[in-house]
Amino acid sequence: MEFPVKTGSPVRQKTACAVVPIFEDAGLSGVGKELSRPLKRLITTLKQKKEAPIKLGSTCLVPLIRGTAIQKTLLVGCGKAAQFDGKNFKKATLAAANALKDAKAKEAINYLGYLPVKGLDAYYAARMTIELTHSSFYRFDELKSKKKNKYKLRKLGVAIKDHKLAKVVRQGIKDGQGISAGIDLARDLANRPPNICTPTHLARVAHALTKKHGCLEAKILSERDMKRLGMGALLSVSQGAVEPAKLIILQYKGAEDRVAPVVICGKGITFDTGGISLKPPPKMDEMKFDMGGAASVLGTMAALGQLKPNINVVALIPACENMPSGQATRPGDIVTSMSGQTVEIINTDAEGRLILCDALTYARRYKPRYLIDVATLTGACVIALGHQCTGLFSNNDELALSLLEAGHRTHDPAWRLPVGEEHFESLESNFADFANSGAREGGASIAATFLSKFVESKPWAHLDIAGTAWLSGKNKGATGRPVALLVDFLLNLSERDS
Ligand code: BES
Ligand code: MN
Ligand code: ZN
Repeated sequence: MEFPVKTGSPVRQKTACAVVPIFEDAGLSGVGKELSRPLKRLITTLKQKKEAPIKLGSTCLVPLIRGTAIQKTLLVGCGKAAQFDGKNFKKATLAAANALKDAKAKEAINYLGYLPVKGLDAYYAARMTIELTHSSFYRFDELKSKKKNKYKLRKLGVAIKDHKLAKVVRQGIKDGQGISAGIDLARDLANRPPNICTPTHLARVAHALTKKHGCLEAKILSERDMKRLGMGALLSVSQGAVEPAKLIILQYKGAEDRVAPVVICGKGITFDTGGISLKPPPKMDEMKFDMGGAASVLGTMAALGQLKPNINVVALIPACENMPSGQATRPGDIVTSMSGQTVEIINTDAEGRLILCDALTYARRYKPRYLIDVATLTGACVIALGHQCTGLFSNNDELALSLLEAGHRTHDPAWRLPVGEEHFESLESNFADFANSGAREGGASIAATFLSKFVESKPWAHLDIAGTAWLSGKNKGATGRPVALLVDFLLNLSERDS
């Protein structure tokens, strides 16, 4: 979809559909006098019939506005004018996007951010408009034999009154498009079934990204390479599966080589049966989403490839299946990780930490500025935080704060939970250096503490996206989280003067 900036006078803009905010208490004040005058009579009639969509998130499509070049108007309820902040702007923008899907117009102009929104600068307002519109038009139908008709909308103008803001709005649109492309990729990968989206498939996608963006380079390690490196923890998860494991290394070079990279590491379990500690059948199909961390890391790299910020980033993706078989790892087995530390496998379903720990050890060679891992790691995190917030664990307050802020700005929120020595007791083993699983209580923090044993003293953060990477039920599907959070964090590290 195209998103041109529109700075001209609204009465003179030619459009098939103008998306216009209407407030409970302040009517059409959001588009100024010019547009409100021709719409006034219509609104009065609607109000008399109590049909004006003044409630936040309600919409109403009305015919052309006389004296303008506007063929149709989509009125979008924005609630009380004084309360129109980022959160309400998001609700209104989403409602508008959904209504535009049905409106059948090929082109429209959005006036919801025509005037400044409380607490939201023009850059973020534009970016949010693009991200929300794009994501509500997302559909995953590549495996449906009969496809539904494509949505009609091809172009959505972003209207602003103050033409001095055009430059930042244009930047917001550009960044929004890059982030949207990344989110789309993450959602497609995670939605794909596990018989298609295998470790080999993820490796191919990483390779394809390097063809699309010259600033990306890929290297794929095979099981033989991993054996040579001593990645006994990672290989112990994969050994029950027929599908070969891959360690995907994807580098984004946007700054000089001497600039220390951020390493982002994504859990890529393309299907988690639990292994010999087999999971119960209900909802087991959803364990195809257990590569949500890998998907969001690849999505983030795709966004960087498009936006080209002035930083270096290395993506590390350990990818394999967790299957039961005659060759599978048993509870009680002891494996040696690449770091040399030994691990007693108490539960083969605690596999994410085993593949991540070897990837985190491998990350040392890049001397990272920051080390961030992203994983659908624990059911306990879902119990703790539900589906709103990603769990954030970190050994570094500054890094944690930056990630929390990025999550807040992008409406892709995270919430910090504890990690540290106090949880380590739970992982004590009589036979190895430590165990791979411990108490049920505080399970998310225990898993994070396991990972912390592999990061030495590097500034590190772990994002547990078990509750946020996908939705269940009627709207089952990948969310693309936390691509927006990660890209925002990374863009803020780059010294970009927009
Ligand atoms: N992939 C799961 C975590 C998960 C479960 C994410 C449900 C989303 C929904 C992970 O590999 C796992 O099985 N974790 C175990 C750990 C336990 C055995 C210590 C869990 O959370 O039950
Ligand atoms: Mn598991
Ligand atoms: Zn898992």
